[in-house]
Amino acid sequence: MSKVFVFSTYGGPDGQQFTEREVLPPGAGEIAIEVRAAGVNPADWKRREGAFGTHDPLPVAMGLEASGVVTAVGDGVQDFAVGDEVLGTPARGLGAFAEHTVLDAAQTVVKPEEISFTDAATIPVAGTAAYDLTHQVEIEAGQTLLVLGAGGGVGRMVLQIAKVHGFNAIGVASESKRELIEATGATFVPSGDGVAGRVREVVPDGVDLLADLVGGRVLRELAPLAKTPSAIVSAADAVTAVELGGSGREPAEGVLEKITGVVQYGLVDPHVDRTFPLEQAAEAIAAVESGHSTGKIVIVA
Ligand SMILES: NC(=O)c1ccc[n+]([C@@H]2O[C@H](COP(=O)([O-])OP(=O)(O)OC[C@H]3O[C@@H](n4cnc5c(N)ncnc54)[C@H](OP(=O)(O)O)[C@@H]3O)[C@@H](O)[C@H]2O)c1
Repeated sequence: MSKVFVFSTYGGPDGQQFTEREVLPPGAGEIAIEVRAAGVNPADWKRREGAFGTHDPLPVAMGLEASGVVTAVGDGVQDFAVGDEVLGTPARGLGAFAEHTVLDAAQTVVKPEEISFTDAATIPVAGTAAYDLTHQVEIEAGQTLLVLGAGGGVGRMVLQIAKVHGFNAIGVASESKRELIEATGATFVPSGDGVAGRVREVVPDGVDLLADLVGGRVLRELAPLAKTPSAIVSAADAVTAVELGGSGREPAEGVLEKITGVVQYGLVDPHVDRTFPLEQAAEAIAAVESGHSTGKIVIVA
């Protein structure tokens, strides 16, 4: 038997608990892994709250990105073998906050030696989101990129990708994240009342790309800074972004391989700020649910 963290009711964290399940065999196109690390994302608690619907049968295994060691491969899988170190996305909602899980081979890559299991576990969700947000609307070196929520798990990687491309980046975050943001070469602008005016002082002509990781009122307030509405892209709030004339994050093909390479060559450091043992999965989720985490939070086996 093997331990997995689940929620058994839609709603608050009280519905979360550990349960035991068989070590599952991989189906066709899947690989089974012993989990070494799992990234924690806002989507974990949003899903529990029912933000994506309440149709998944309970209990629902939690965790959407993992790294680990392959223990079995399913039919038709040719790119992986038992013993390979990998990072990827759990198949069939089987969860990542677990001792063992099953990954979708099509959304899994071999973990390069240069990347630790802990860092690797931040790539399938947060890393790919950062890559998509900086590529789905093309801008060139020297053009301006404004990032809302710049000190979080995705935002910090967005700023590092911006540096690789030579974008002139501005990161909006709380004052405690100033150093973290300036370390990427970006200009820091503190969030809170009057933020649009402060950004306008830095970029009087507006920005060529607005990458949003906050959404809602903050996105509405800063949207007029985009030179054109189509330059607004949001991973946090697609509905508001589309309403403003922009778009939600659009996952592109082959991005998992690309961002893994970028991390492998040291161009992006996922900046794992805190790790928690699997036994403290609830605490790890609560830390992300606070809404003000710095960099990534990862559960390690
Ligand atoms: N669509 C997708 O596939 C996808 C993938 C990944 C993430 N996402 C979404 O993208 C968002 C960010 O994800 P994440 O993993 O980076 O979350 P995170 O690590 O929790 O970071 C969110 C950041 O936003 C900042 N923030 C909160 N309120 C703010 C405000 N009013 N103004 C400026 N910054 C504010 C927070 O810190 P401070 O306020 O302390 O600065 C925090 O650093 C979430 O909504 C998540 O669900 C979507």
